[in-house]
Amino acid sequence: MTDSTENSLHHARYPRSNQYADDWVYSNQMGPNALWLTEALTELMDIRPDMKVLDLGCGKAMTSIFLAKEFGAQVWATDLWVAAAENHERIEQAGVQDLVFPIHAEAHTLPFATGFFDAIISIDAYQYFGTDDLYLGYLVEFLKPGGKFGMVSPAMLKEVGAAIPDHIEPYWEWEFCCFHSPEWWRQHWAKTGLISVDHADAIEDGWKDWIRFIDLSEPHLQGWRKESAVSERAMLEVDAGEHFGFTRILATKPNP
Ligand SMILES: C[S@@+](CC[C@H](N)C(=O)[O-])C[C@H]1O[C@@H](n2cnc3c(N)ncnc32)[C@H](O)[C@@H]1O
Repeated sequence: MTDSTENSLHHARYPRSNQYADDWVYSNQMGPNALWLTEALTELMDIRPDMKVLDLGCGKAMTSIFLAKEFGAQVWATDLWVAAAENHERIEQAGVQDLVFPIHAEAHTLPFATGFFDAIISIDAYQYFGTDDLYLGYLVEFLKPGGKFGMVSPAMLKEVGAAIPDHIEPYWEWEFCCFHSPEWWRQHWAKTGLISVDHADAIEDGWKDWIRFIDLSEPHLQGWRKESAVSERAMLEVDAGEHFGFTRILATKPNP
């Protein structure tokens, strides 16, 4: 589902995201439109003003600012590659400094108390560390019993084996190995017994929105980011949604 406003990020499915300036999104993007992905997750995930939320791998904190503005939640905007001071500036400019707290941390050494968070989200980041079989057990320690964990990640909707499909092969990068299907993630989490998976699916037309975002944002990119976006676009087009898309998954930490 796209929109008639073809030269802007306006998207009929994502009314909350439409309220944010396109230039703000272009200048803070680190991948496919993080606001659309967050809004797709919050279609399923209840975020309320009384909640403490960990945004893990928040990048330039667009998603944290979104959660604070849209739902009034307190958000710990946590990231490795982006400095806390840089995110603090962006958070102040957005006027949500009383709700969003920038933290510089690595995902395996999080500086939080056990059971501190009502919810954890991770948008286009969890695939970098969360495919480790033992990572979920570490992360859920920071959730309260009954707390929610929601994640959106680029996906291989159909898992590939050692032989990469011919049409993808010219564009294949080994890091795509961390993209997995909704069913892969469901099993990866469910078999730990530490969390109960409420929902796992592919975002409808995710690959089409991914292409649309590249088309609109590519003129704002430079250097390797631009080259990478051009190659990614060609791959998405030739694949036509057979493999690439987005996994969306939501789970609950059981009460003891
Ligand atoms: C593709 S960017 C996405 C950022 C943001 N969520 C967004 O969608 O705009 C991936 C983010 O994951 C974070 N990340 C990757 N590995 C990490 C780790 N080991 N610990 C904490 N953050 C990590 C990076 O710092 C980076 O900002």
